[in-house]
Amino acid sequence: MLCSVNTAVKGYKGELIMKIQIVYYSRYGSAKEIAYKIKDKLKADSISDITDLKSITGDLLIVGSSIYAERPDKKITNLLLDKEGLLKDKKVALFVVCLAKEAKVIREIEIGGPVYLRKMEEALNREPVAKKIFGGKLIPSLLSDDDYKRQEAFYKRLNMPFNGADITSEDEIDEFIRELKAAE
Ligand SMILES: Cc1cc2nc3c(=O)[nH]c(=O)nc-3n(C[C@H](O)[C@H](O)[C@H](O)COP(=O)(O)O)c2cc1C
Repeated sequence: MLCSVNTAVKGYKGELIMKIQIVYYSRYGSAKEIAYKIKDKLKADSISDITDLKSITGDLLIVGSSIYAERPDKKITNLLLDKEGLLKDKKVALFVVCLAKEAKVIREIEIGGPVYLRKMEEALNREPVAKKIFGGKLIPSLLSDDDYKRQEAFYKRLNMPFNGADITSEDEIDEFIRELKAAE
């Protein structure tokens, strides 16, 4: 059972210092890599994989998910739905990591980064203080048999070669950091 710990501390002038916590879902490591870069650049206080999350300790919670089959991870969505009210007084920022960064329509279905981010925003049900769509990475040799077959079939349907991709960008991380610092 998750709990929320109130951790706001005061600086030497009596000002409140915001604690920053990062929670992410990553299956093959690219969202984890991005989450850790955010942690280092922001000097965040804590970071955890959603499956290891024990408590909400941040005043600013940065929640990110890699995208599989057009949606963010279910545990991440459940955290944002916040049935227990643990995020009530928290600032929340969101990010997704995917390959289809731009919105597009395939067979009359809208897909892409803005759609994935919107699913997280709908679960949160309020404006996040910052949000970002990150380009991810897909390395076929790392995939489980099932994921490999799914992706192979997907690319075949699109008549595209299945070679893997890496569209990660350090600049995107820096842009998000600037947005987060403005929201602190
Ligand atoms: C089985 C499978 C399904 C995927 N589905 C999507 C998708 O629906 N939309 C998308 O943009 N990217 C999709 N991707 C790409 C991943 O979002 C991308 O590789 C991401 O960087 C993976 O993050 P991770 O390394 O943290 O797991 C898929 C990848 C796999 C292997």
